[in-house]
Amino acid sequence: MSFRIQPAAPARPNRCQLFGPGSRPAIFEKMAASAADVINLDLEDSVAPDDKAAARKNIIEAIGDVDWGNKTLSVRINGLDTPYWYRDVVDLLEQASDRLDQIMIPKVGCAGDIYAVDALVTAIERAKGRTKPISFEVIIESAAGIAHVEEIAAASPRMEAMSLGAADFAASMGMQTTGIGGTQENYYMIREGVKHWSDPWHWAQAAIVAACRTHGVLPVDGPFGDFSDDDGYVAQARRSATLGMVGKWAIHPKQIALANEVFTPSEAAVAEAKEILAAMEKAKAEGAGATVYKGRLVDIASIKQAEVIVKQAELIAG
Ligand code: COA
Ligand code: MG
Repeated sequence: MSFRIQPAAPARPNRCQLFGPGSRPAIFEKMAASAADVINLDLEDSVAPDDKAAARKNIIEAIGDVDWGNKTLSVRINGLDTPYWYRDVVDLLEQASDRLDQIMIPKVGCAGDIYAVDALVTAIERAKGRTKPISFEVIIESAAGIAHVEEIAAASPRMEAMSLGAADFAASMGMQTTGIGGTQENYYMIREGVKHWSDPWHWAQAAIVAACRTHGVLPVDGPFGDFSDDDGYVAQARRSATLGMVGKWAIHPKQIALANEVFTPSEAAVAEAKEILAAMEKAKAEGAGATVYKGRLVDIASIKQAEVIVKQAELIAG
């Protein structure tokens, strides 16, 4: 371990982030009643330009009026390249109740983007005497965002989560795809005449996980557009979980249960992790740093791996 200890990410469940357009208030109650850990009310790309003002009003009212239970409540503001974002921040911070937990900043490209929003948020919090600080989550969805991913993760103590936004990311990178995440038809290798599909999102996800883990931020997988393809969603989510991500977005309610299933450690996985911890306790008592569990090596690193699973299960159960 480096002299610098890796900071812990926020201790909150973040298995599924459910999105809904701010211009469609009829679904807000359904979102609140869902099994998603995080609710993202959207002011950005699911809201048409002419509807931005009405969507802000809907969202500000709903933050106070709807019972959001113990969910993390987040609003996605417009990008810093638009004329809308400052009004999103000003109206939310001046008018929304303290129930608002977080704002999501899309299309971030550098730490300066976070600095700008932080300065505005901080000034309004002080002016209005808001005592609960708003946290930030961001979307990495551009070439600049992934190139500067580490400085973005480190940009503000308000930073709590970071998602990969596959569609805008693909566009910014010039990737030849119109799908939102998932398997890409033309991304394959050939062995002995047989195609093997690979994962074009892998490196960006791994870069996000590394930046997040370095700076104590939750890494999250973004949207999967084809909500008719449950198997494709689950496969993508399992790859993300394997890489260290803690959750995934739902852009339709049917994706919530799928995300919760994948990102909740299974009973079998928790039982095995506890057995490994017990085996290592026994080894330690006998003065050994390594032992054999079910025919394979476990050592002190295995304790940390097992603890990731046990702690995640405890966090979700709590
Ligand atoms: N949250 C909660 N409930 C939702 C919902 C959402 N995001 N989207 C749809 N529902 C509800 C519908 O109201 C409907 O409820 P009902 O059974 O009581 O009538 C039910 O779920 C089934 O909806 P369905 O008819 O299959 O979908 P739709 O055509 O109404 O909406 C989308 C489909 C994709 C347009 C809609 O899900 C949506 O807007 N998703 C979020 C998009 C978004 O926010 N994008 C930005 C991030 S990428
Ligand atoms: Mg986007």
